[in-house]
Amino acid sequence: QSIVTLISGRGSNFEAIVKTAQKEAWPVQFSGVISNRSSALGLDFARSHGIPAFAIEHQEHPSRESFDAALIEQIDALGADLVVLAGFMRILTPGFIRHYEGRLINIHPALLPAFPGLHTHERALEAKVTTHGATVHFVNEGVDEGPIICQASVPVLPGDDAATLGARVLAAEHQIYPRAVKWFLDGRLRIEGNQVKLQPPES
Ligand code: GRF
Repeated sequence: QSIVTLISGRGSNFEAIVKTAQKEAWPVQFSGVISNRSSALGLDFARSHGIPAFAIEHQEHPSRESFDAALIEQIDALGADLVVLAGFMRILTPGFIRHYEGRLINIHPALLPAFPGLHTHERALEAKVTTHGATVHFVNEGVDEGPIICQASVPVLPGDDAATLGARVLAAEHQIYPRAVKWFLDGRLRIEGNQVKLQPPES
């Protein structure tokens, strides 16, 4: 099976997935990483691990549709059973989402449905929640609304700012995203309506 990952920056979630796959010897191929910014650090990690890395600059496209069409062309040329969004900071068009329906997943740095959208750590602090976290979900046409695969919670501690809280959430992201990807690859995720039912492992 093959995975294509879309990133925009640091790519630490992508790195966590690749490192877990290597450690656990998953029978998977990382066929490519695509960033909408050529300066994304995650592209360097990919190249240093022999994973084909591409930049498709969104600014060079006149519209979202044209950018997404270029993405689709590259992803399909690489061949993807699963498309993993890992810190990819562009809203995707409905056409793109439909094209990969059921094999497109994302990680969001909050306990959805709480705090969809941007600046989640700042908003969690403002709302004075005591528990925050991260969510892996299938992507549908709503922003941060697709069927939830798994979540991890972390405490909000006295004295936290967005940076300390964000670092705690990121560490949790690095735990759950590889697990969710592996469940997908093992065929254990069944979507029923807006819910995901985790199937038992094949023995
Ligand atoms: C993560 O917090 C992820 O949840 C959010 O963007 C950040 C990406 O970090 N969507 P990285 O590029 O994986 O290091």
